[in-house]
Amino acid sequence: MMEKMMFKHFLFALLSVFSLILVHAQDDQSGFISIDCGRVPPNTSYTEPSTGIKYISDELFVDGGVSKSILPEYKATLQEQAAYVRSFPEGIRNCYRVNVTKNTRYLIRATFLYGDYDGLEQFPEFDLHFGVTLWETVKIEYITISAIKEIIHIPTQDKVDVCLVNTGSGTPFITALEFRPLLNSTYSTPIGSLLLYLRADVGSTDNGSVHRYPFDVFDRLWFPYYYEKWTQIQLPASEKVNSGFNIYQPSPDVMGTAGTPTNESSPMQFVWTDRDPNTVFYVYMYFSELQQLEANESRAFNINFNGNHFYGPLVPDHLNVTVIFTPSGLYGGNFTFSIVRLENSTLPPIINAIEIYTSVDFLHSETDQNDETDGEFDLIFESADAILNIKSSYRVTRNWGGDPCLPTQYIWTGLNCSSDGLDSPRITSLNLSSSGLTGEITSHLSKLTVLESLDLSNNSLTGPVPDFLAQLHNLRILNLEMNKLTGSVPAELIERSQSGSLSLSVGENPDLCASVSCETKTSKKKKSNVAIPIAASVGGLVILMLIAVIIYVVLKRQKKAGSDDTDSLDSKKRHFTYSEVIRITNNFERILGKGGFGTVYHGLTDETTQVAVKMLSLPQVQGNQQSQSEEEQNSMQKLYYVQFQAEVKLLMRVQHANLTSLVGYCNEGNNKALIFEFMANGDLDSHLSGDKNANVLNWERRLQIAVDAAQGLEYLHTGCKPPIVHRDVKTTNILLTERFQAKIADFGLSKVFPSDEDASHVITRVAGTRGYLDPEYATTNRLTEKSDVFSFGVVLLEIITGRPAVSRTHDERIHIIQWVNSMLANGDIKSIAGPSLNGDFETNSVWKAVELAMACVSQSSAKRPNMSQVVTELKNCFEVEIGRRNNNSRMTQSTTDSVELISMNVTTEFTPLPR
Ligand SMILES: *[C@@H]1O[C@H](CO)[C@@H](O)[C@H](O)[C@H]1NC(C)=O
Ligand SMILES: *[C@@H]1O[C@H](CO)[C@@H](O)[C@H](O)[C@H]1NC(C)=O
Ligand SMILES: *[C@@H]1O[C@H](CO)[C@@H](O)[C@H](O)[C@H]1NC(C)=O
Ligand SMILES: *[C@@H]1O[C@H](CO)[C@@H](O)[C@H](O)[C@H]1NC(C)=O
Ligand SMILES: *[C@@H]1O[C@H](CO)[C@@H](O)[C@H](O)[C@H]1NC(C)=O
Ligand SMILES: *[C@@H]1O[C@H](CO)[C@@H](O)[C@H](O)[C@H]1NC(C)=O
Ligand SMILES: *[C@@H]1O[C@H](CO)[C@@H](O)[C@H](O)[C@H]1NC(C)=O
Repeated sequence: MMEKMMFKHFLFALLSVFSLILVHAQDDQSGFISIDCGRVPPNTSYTEPSTGIKYISDELFVDGGVSKSILPEYKATLQEQAAYVRSFPEGIRNCYRVNVTKNTRYLIRATFLYGDYDGLEQFPEFDLHFGVTLWETVKIEYITISAIKEIIHIPTQDKVDVCLVNTGSGTPFITALEFRPLLNSTYSTPIGSLLLYLRADVGSTDNGSVHRYPFDVFDRLWFPYYYEKWTQIQLPASEKVNSGFNIYQPSPDVMGTAGTPTNESSPMQFVWTDRDPNTVFYVYMYFSELQQLEANESRAFNINFNGNHFYGPLVPDHLNVTVIFTPSGLYGGNFTFSIVRLENSTLPPIINAIEIYTSVDFLHSETDQNDETDGEFDLIFESADAILNIKSSYRVTRNWGGDPCLPTQYIWTGLNCSSDGLDSPRITSLNLSSSGLTGEITSHLSKLTVLESLDLSNNSLTGPVPDFLAQLHNLRILNLEMNKLTGSVPAELIERSQSGSLSLSVGENPDLCASVSCETKTSKKKKSNVAIPIAASVGGLVILMLIAVIIYVVLKRQKKAGSDDTDSLDSKKRHFTYSEVIRITNNFERILGKGGFGTVYHGLTDETTQVAVKMLSLPQVQGNQQSQSEEEQNSMQKLYYVQFQAEVKLLMRVQHANLTSLVGYCNEGNNKALIFEFMANGDLDSHLSGDKNANVLNWERRLQIAVDAAQGLEYLHTGCKPPIVHRDVKTTNILLTERFQAKIADFGLSKVFPSDEDASHVITRVAGTRGYLDPEYATTNRLTEKSDVFSFGVVLLEIITGRPAVSRTHDERIHIIQWVNSMLANGDIKSIAGPSLNGDFETNSVWKAVELAMACVSQSSAKRPNMSQVVTELKNCFEVEIGRRNNNSRMTQSTTDSVELISMNVTTEFTPLPR
């Protein structure tokens, strides 16, 4: 009875037939990047005649590889970009590097059409990587049918690497690489990117023809989809589906055909399985009524998933598009979507198109490559770029492409990298011996600051041995033998060689002087300019940080040299005397709050400017107080004094709209105060617990607060160099202005004062923040930005639920994560989003936020998103919520008909959408 539609993991498409209709109507390819791999002159840039897409050759995007032409007999029927391929007979891994617009959602497609380009008629199999992560294995199975790999992904940097990896089953090659910007608000997922599984044009009447640009504005490839038990419905040629009203803008031609069950009472089913029950799927279903219904006709149906009601009843609009999709992933291994006619519907169900994606995580694909160059602290991220520069200055012909150090099995030949698993790996060893190098020793080498071994022997290098080599303090092996170097070897290198800390080889350089005596004539004055004594046993990172700090200090000094303001800490404007503090606070009249660091008072610096004055109390040592001598106490205070100064300097430098700004400070003996801008609405905590404050925040405002706070943290993590880890993110440290703009407070302070885990003496503080503490940090003691992400996740859960981080019943403590988990099992969004929200929210937006928060509180820090990702996702939630409000308030300009619906996982009963 049931008619099932089975399909396999199917990703091959026929490119052989293309529409001969040339379309002049639209030509908006803005943002398209269309690379024809292997294309040779004279047509290195051209317009493909059947699609109008403008392709360019790949020569600027890749090094190495050879251009090959597919066999002529196959060319005639194929689109122009298929005529050539680039093949990579050499090297394990070869990469394309493409400039993109970061933070934009892209459809990224790699196409492989074999065409027997090598005359071997042997189908290779190889891996495709996105950055350093496996994208998919490419398995060629046909001569003229392309393998197509497609993802939808938001790059976080302005360049991406796409790499082909030889896995020993034939030579990798590629036909085309295409990037299409999509709308931010489409195809958004709580976490991860999308990998195309199937994109089907149901009921297509055009045998074998793949619809793409210009029919589809985003150049999605829609594959024709037939099923013998379904009947095709086709729109009369005089009519057209209004695809533009829906943000997904599916091709009108794709929407203009649909399938309907031939046996009108049968449901339409999509059934598929995945061997791995953890594979996450996302589904997008497209509907449009193609018939003009008579008054006595109706078409209404429900959509069920694995036997449960998923959405409905749905009555497709005539010639308008409705998209039903799964905003959260589905998993469980067995998947059945059924489209079932309602009993009182006179017509059977229809579906016009469907897309299915799996979720893939490219989080760790992009290594830091010195993108934000503010010249001070970016040394840490420079090694990847430096090696690329070295590569280009020497025209190294080895197959060096992609990330030099990652993945570890594809480290560039001649390199070795440090890897402690946490920081970006850096290059520790470089062997360019016998590589035919000419010219001088490149200064880019100086950026490889943790280099331990450098071998440039047996080349034709000329010029001097540069001084910067002496500043590579980790260097233990330096081999410059058999070159044409001139001048003298820097004395410092010679000294290190003599003391045994450096193995130096400079032989067979006829014009090079390798003794200290000739060194003295040339560059005596340069010596010991920036000599940094560092014990050889100190780890690389520490050294690097030290160097960075020293360079920073030197730079700052140099910058400051011309100005009379010698130290910002003493800048008069920001320094307050204790008597001024007394005046400002009207003798400490009004207490705003009490925190771990002391008491906060209300103040007025002039008639109108309100401030918050935080009087810092030195930590009280409990327990063994008597045993502490006065001397010890004094030295402790001294230490705090020094740290206090350092932190004040830091706080003064850090400026961001979502961080409370420091107005000034007072530093007189034991009277230490920090003066901050006044935050009229107090802290977030007091607004969330509805009983304390009648003015409960609505969902939109809460989301805005979450976005604000996340941006503040993002700035501390990525905008500050070195990054600042807050360590004490919680709702009482998120303050609100008069207009409910949120700002993070108390950042940087955690470094001045003992933190939770190493201080037994600030008992109250430990208790106060326990619910926020990253469990991984607590067990490993390794502090990273991801610890703040965990705490932020807890805050986000509080924002959503209105519950405290830890709630106490008479005999039990329940952590908010446990509570949300138990609620998720019931899949009831209303009970998660606290009663304080009164059901007044866009469900999808809340779900997304819940999923994001749960990702933030993952036990393993590696699984947590970073704050930039959190910001992006929260903004999406916010847009969705705003969209709802706009739809409610004005009916005229509807840009989207998409109906968004919810399912957490396959075992969940789907509840009807709240309206
Ligand atoms: C390639 O270039 C040749 C000569 O410049 C031209 O005749 C031909 O039309 C070009 N082909 C394409 C596809 O642009
Ligand atoms: C990509 O951008 C970088 C930096 O802006 C530039 O140097 C490079 O030439 C660009 N690459 C291509 C292929 O346009
Ligand atoms: C998408 O979002 C990014 C970052 O928020 C923004 O720069 C870009 O303009 C947005 N693009 C569109 C089409 O809205
Ligand atoms: C499409 O191809 C199938 C199988 O080859 C054939 O049965 C069908 O008639 C074709 N349809 C059209 C519209 O050409
Ligand atoms: C999926 O269905 C198959 C057979 O119907 C069954 O053997 C398998 O256990 C199911 N998988 C899951 C994860 O339920
Ligand atoms: C058909 O039945 C559904 C409930 O099953 C109901 O919501 C709908 O109004 C009915 N339609 C008509 C035309 O009676
Ligand atoms: C299709 O959508 C447009 C824009 O939202 C709207 O004006 C029109 O009434 C809709 N048509 C139908 C049949 O619902």
